[in-house]
Amino acid sequence: MNTIYATEDFLAADEFIDVVKKSGLNRPVEDRARTERMLKHSNLYVTARQNGRLVGFARSLTDFCWCCYLSDLAVDKACQGQGIGKRLIEETRKAAGAEITTTLLLAAPGAVTFYQGIKMPQLDNCFAYRRTK
Ligand SMILES: CC(C)(COP(=O)(O)OP(=O)(O)OC[C@H]1O[C@@H](n2cnc3c(N)ncnc32)[C@H](O)[C@@H]1OP(=O)(O)O)[C@@H](O)C(=O)NCCC(=O)NCCS
Repeated sequence: MNTIYATEDFLAADEFIDVVKKSGLNRPVEDRARTERMLKHSNLYVTARQNGRLVGFARSLTDFCWCCYLSDLAVDKACQGQGIGKRLIEETRKAAGAEITTTLLLAAPGAVTFYQGIKMPQLDNCFAYRRTK
């Protein structure tokens, strides 16, 4: 199946929720208002579509010249293992300006081996205040 990658300005909540559910990504999609707020305030979406259908996405917040926080990466389980996740990260780095922008993310427990496998550099100087809700 041919996969088309694109940078999109916005992602509709229904498409986002559909892929979150089909990927197994843990996001608060049962809270529609919070989901719409997450989407509204993000400014870089890289999408993967097959026959127009969204099968994967990377959602990021970036200034396009220094930092890019890749918050959500998800691929429909039916399409995993086709190189889509890896490509979404590459396209995100490119769109954010790979040479001048640091792209960082927090790995979900089940995805640590994925990031290690694609040789994404792992940092030891990262600090975070975790959300409580
Ligand atoms: C993690 C995720 C995005 C990977 O997407 P994907 O499209 O299946 O990944 P790719 O096909 O690009 O995989 C690239 C390589 O990593 C390997 N890989 C994929 N998932 C892996 C995992 N969990 N652990 C180890 N290796 C993994 C693939 O086999 C592939 O290896 P290869 O190049 O030798 O063939 C996808 O599994 C997913 O949506 N998971 C649920 C949500 C999630 O955890 N997202 C990350 C949140 S931080």
